[in-house]
Amino acid sequence: MSQPTSQSLVLEEFGSLPRLVERPVPEPGPNHTLVRMRAAAVSHLDLNVIDGKFGILPDLPAVPGTEGSGIVVASDTHPEGSLVRLRGKALGLRRDGTWTEYALVPDAAVEAVPEGTDPALACCYFSPAGTAWASVHTVAGVRPGERVLVTGAAGAVGALTAQVAARAGAEVIGVVGRPAKLPHVPAPAKALLAADLSPESVGGPVDVLIDTVGGPVLRDALPLVRPRGRAALVGYTAGREFTVDLADYLLADVALLPVNLMSRGKEVAADTQRLLGDLTSGELTLPIERHRIDGLAPAVARLRSGEAVGKVVLDLG
Ligand SMILES: NC(=O)c1ccc[n+]([C@@H]2O[C@H](COP(=O)([O-])OP(=O)(O)OC[C@H]3O[C@@H](n4cnc5c(N)ncnc54)[C@H](OP(=O)(O)O)[C@@H]3O)[C@@H](O)[C@H]2O)c1
Repeated sequence: MSQPTSQSLVLEEFGSLPRLVERPVPEPGPNHTLVRMRAAAVSHLDLNVIDGKFGILPDLPAVPGTEGSGIVVASDTHPEGSLVRLRGKALGLRRDGTWTEYALVPDAAVEAVPEGTDPALACCYFSPAGTAWASVHTVAGVRPGERVLVTGAAGAVGALTAQVAARAGAEVIGVVGRPAKLPHVPAPAKALLAADLSPESVGGPVDVLIDTVGGPVLRDALPLVRPRGRAALVGYTAGREFTVDLADYLLADVALLPVNLMSRGKEVAADTQRLLGDLTSGELTLPIERHRIDGLAPAVARLRSGEAVGKVVLDLG
């Protein structure tokens, strides 16, 4: 009898787009869980990997995708038929990832998700929610009454960061690059265009900057932070490079704080899971754009250009 096959997106060369390939469904194996995938996130990290521009890269050919969700088909550890989230254990980095209809992954890369959770939300909430929590609470230590400037505030991380900061009792100003994104800055944050950033438009110095955009946006936003304030650096969609004039830096007296969800994942896991409940109930919002497995090219294009609003997800059936 011939082995059943399924579709996977396979990266053959860095700098190209993965190709949709028909491959045998993996055989279940010890210490591994076979999952019928339902959804997979397409993130900036995944784009960096397929571009060959990340510090950890797979041997090719490889299936990208660092986050996903699906139903357990076979496992010694996880109940068959249960909804799970796949993450960590170098999925999509050192081993095949989630952009596939069937994934065979180490048991330790599998985490239970409450039944009834939207699989698209299950696959993509952790990175933006965990990063938002880490930025606001663990790294910047936002206190009630502080003024917080969030850049990329209609993006997945930025929008959740703005909401988490507001819940922490901060007054939040959310900055976006294009006018079309202004309505997508979540309440109660005040929405502002990056081109209009100034001490006057922001209403005086802010205590904290949480920057998800980098490049020129970071350069323009940083001087708006008060002396002894904090700037949490999260992302670099608008540019990876940032120059510091040491004399100006010391004079400004603003702490530059890196946010690294990979190193902080365990620390923020419990709080981030609570945020999943709030996202499911609608108390917090995270817009999700859904694309088919054969629609990777437009999905990637929308994420790269910044046109996408919220998370970009592959619907895997
Ligand atoms: N440090 C960590 O641990 C960690 C964890 C998760 C994510 N990240 C990083 O955080 C950043 C934001 O992630 P995200 O998921 O929120 O992304 P996203 O939803 O795509 O949001 C990024 C925002 O960047 C803005 N942008 C400005 N210039 C851009 C350009 N040239 N291309 C694309 N977007 C541009 C866009 O907003 P406007 O249209 O308003 O300009 C866009 O909404 C990414 O760099 C990601 O790698 C870091």
